[in-house]
Amino acid sequence: MSRLVYVLNGPNLNLLGKRQPHIYGHETLADVERDCRALAGELGLTLRFHQSNREYEIIDWIHEAREEAGGIVINPAAFTHTSVAVLDALNTFEGPVIECHISNVHKREAFRHHSYVSLRADGVIAGFGTQGYQLALRRVARLIDDKAA
Ligand code: DQA
Repeated sequence: MSRLVYVLNGPNLNLLGKRQPHIYGHETLADVERDCRALAGELGLTLRFHQSNREYEIIDWIHEAREEAGGIVINPAAFTHTSVAVLDALNTFEGPVIECHISNVHKREAFRHHSYVSLRADGVIAGFGTQGYQLALRRVARLIDDKAA
């Protein structure tokens, strides 16, 4: 199985570090990418790391991952709670999918408690701050290893 992993980020995550830092912290998405790449090196993974404010771009990257990647880590941001299209795209992908949220969505507004993406995700991480991405990568690496064994 491919050790290429897509790390996908949805709308407004380009403003990470500036946007509501009391909720999402002070680290930027570039910091997250740097830490993910360092860990990926240790885990023997190759990463494609993307962010978009446009739903279709997220969907197109999932389709790309379908052809090439062994796993997906996705923080769909607000699309988590709205997008059947992102769920449908993930349902076309056969490898492990981990859904990652920086904040604990269950401690927040009721509309954040429902996730379309969770209907497909093999695991969900929420409330671990940006460290959640690294936990998600570790889990994807393990699931890829298990499939290969
Ligand atoms: C988020 C939680 C979502 O509810 C929100 O819309 C986001 C970020 C998180 O990482 O905590 O944009 O996915």
